[in-house]
Amino acid sequence: PPDDWREACLSNDLPEAGTLAVTLDEQVFCLYRVEGATYATADRCSHGRGSLSEGILEAHTIECPFHQGCFDIRTGAPTALPCNRPVKTYATREADGVVWLNTSPRDVAGQP
Ligand code: FES
Repeated sequence: PPDDWREACLSNDLPEAGTLAVTLDEQVFCLYRVEGATYATADRCSHGRGSLSEGILEAHTIECPFHQGCFDIRTGAPTALPCNRPVKTYATREADGVVWLNTSPRDVAGQP
């Protein structure tokens, strides 16, 4: 539904190849920017207590700071052990210097 869209941050707060944790509706999300485009996943790793916003982003892969498991930020799919379960992904939009996030997770196929 349209009311699941929230203002997440200012565009300037999310630099190229950067990550940013944001709390919306009492949930913590991680925003990413790669090649200008924005992406969002849950901030918490599906393996444990790692915060993905504190991890290392390389292209579309985020490496968790806890045990170096990895996910593809476009789909949430795990791409390196010990992560073997996906993280949720969320639709984002950017307009007029603001990044918006839809707090309803996409389905597993990655569709908004
Ligand atoms: Fe993220 Fe273990 S908590 S890899």
